[in-house]
Amino acid sequence: MQEVEQTTTLNPQVKDAAVKYVKHLFSQADDSDFIRLLKKEAFKNVYKKMIVDPDEFLPQPRPADVGPWEGPKPESPKDFLKSKVVLPSLPQVLLEIQKVINDPDSSADDLAEVINKDPKLVAAILRLANSAMFSFRTEVDTTSRAVALLGFKQASSLALGTVSLSLFKRSDGVQVLQVEKFWKHAIACGVIAQEIAKLAGIQDSERFFVAGMLHDIGLYVIFESNKSLGLELSELARKNGNCLYDAEMELLGFSHAALGGVILKDWSFPKSLVVSAAAHHNPKKAKKDPDAGIIHVADFISRALGYHLGLSPVLGVLDQEIYESFGVSGEMFVDMIPEVQVLIEEIFEILNPA
Ligand SMILES: [Fe+2]
Repeated sequence: MQEVEQTTTLNPQVKDAAVKYVKHLFSQADDSDFIRLLKKEAFKNVYKKMIVDPDEFLPQPRPADVGPWEGPKPESPKDFLKSKVVLPSLPQVLLEIQKVINDPDSSADDLAEVINKDPKLVAAILRLANSAMFSFRTEVDTTSRAVALLGFKQASSLALGTVSLSLFKRSDGVQVLQVEKFWKHAIACGVIAQEIAKLAGIQDSERFFVAGMLHDIGLYVIFESNKSLGLELSELARKNGNCLYDAEMELLGFSHAALGGVILKDWSFPKSLVVSAAAHHNPKKAKKDPDAGIIHVADFISRALGYHLGLSPVLGVLDQEIYESFGVSGEMFVDMIPEVQVLIEEIFEILNPA
């Protein structure tokens, strides 16, 4: 952070507030070269936001019509799912895309046919295919052309990611979880995960786009099912200076990650997506599956860069060993940040389910 402070003329009051905020944000993260680089990026972002939108950093009053949480305390994710929960309903098109992906005999035409059944999905895929995410020389104006140019894996991943995001709808009444922030976090995590996987030389890196979109599904279900519980968790995390995961473990004894894993498993999603969601806060538990580790790192980075959910101003822990195992240096990643930020905004603009 010091370099940033020395080389730019900053408003001293805002600078102090931003330094304090970033220090608290990283209070649970161990010191390392990568963390220091991320802190610098976070500082730039927080300082800019504090100038443009200082209200974002003021303590928010407790929403008047959300009562205190009175339990009962669920014993486990399965127990929680037995209570009255708001579970997104699976759209038919999502099931059909999965069927095409899982069938080794499927062709690009089969995928285009499924996408063509849903006009909103067609529009999103065409806009994505024509976006900065890909730099095709010609305009992509049909689904079959998009599938041909993108390739089966990339096209199916975009289709699945697009439909996955549409699972998370804004509910009526008070928002404890701000769904726009949730969408942006999901997209940011997906884009960053895909970029890290590419840099790490992991094959089929496009699958991380979907994994990022879905990794916090358990959090969405907790906060949309029981706003009082969501608020209680967020307040506990703030009071203790912890991340939300710690508050969940303290209050419930299980986390949104474990819950997300159970939900995706119940829906028969591919194992890599189930594991990514279930272990994204403790990726060592999924040692044999690098996907959870990539999502863990991408989730941390996305929140450090400001694509957070606004539920706790502390990032939690980054597993350095997992991060180092991908062989992606901090510099390699930091160089990509401006491009990644443009991409996240563009994809948000295209996929925003509102
Ligand atoms: Fe999470």
